[in-house]
Amino acid sequence: ENRALTQHTLAIQEDERRRLAQELHDELGQSLTAIKVMTVTIEKRDIAKQTGIAQSTQQIVAICEHLMSVVGSMMQQLHPLVLTELGLKAALDELIAHWQQRHNLAIAFISPIDIDSLPAHLSIHIFRMVQEALTNVVRHAKASEMVIEFSCDATHQLHLVLKDNGQGCDTLQMQKGFGLLSMRERVRSLQGDFHIHTAPAQGLSLSIHIPL
Ligand SMILES: Nc1ncnc2c1ncn2[C@@H]1O[C@H](COP(=O)(O)OP(=O)(O)OP(=O)(O)O)[C@@H](O)[C@H]1O
Ligand SMILES: [Mg+2]
Repeated sequence: ENRALTQHTLAIQEDERRRLAQELHDELGQSLTAIKVMTVTIEKRDIAKQTGIAQSTQQIVAICEHLMSVVGSMMQQLHPLVLTELGLKAALDELIAHWQQRHNLAIAFISPIDIDSLPAHLSIHIFRMVQEALTNVVRHAKASEMVIEFSCDATHQLHLVLKDNGQGCDTLQMQKGFGLLSMRERVRSLQGDFHIHTAPAQGLSLSIHIPL
């Protein structure tokens, strides 16, 4: 019953994220664009040039552009359009580049298999799991390196390893969060296996097997 509840929660969460991304796009994105266009129009008027108003309008345009990029990255986190448009590989590349830029973390992305040819329903699950693992590494691990490795074995299972070289944790004293729990439930809903290997000062490694 608990499991059904978690899976239901996951589905609601995904719907909600899509709705929020849409709202950000439609409301904030369009209003910012409108403000920017109007400001540029004002900037071009002679009166603006004569009175020094043009300086302020340039600042408004710069702020709009900054906010547009913030909204863009929020939308991307909420619902990765690139996933549906360009596929899992491109979405993960973008996600990894995003985290590497912002944090002092070297991420090795190893994939000898063509992950874009995986069954479509797997992509959002895999994307969310990598996203959660990255968030956890940055939040809890104090790691300098992370490995994201896909492979496929003879029994036709997809194997995904997400590991870091950080401080790890004591599995017995692990805090209960929604992140690892929802990963476990995602894998379970795909009839797969999920294992966490960690110990203090030994980093943390997540091992995921999903039948294809
Ligand atoms: N890469 C990691 N290195 C060290 N400890 C970790 C790592 N990932 C998770 N943990 C530990 O496991 C706990 C549970 O992780 P989980 O992702 O489930 O929850 P959370 O990140 O605390 O919160 P959230 O629900 O927002 O994900 C964390 O609080 C942290 O103590
Ligand atoms: Mg977490």
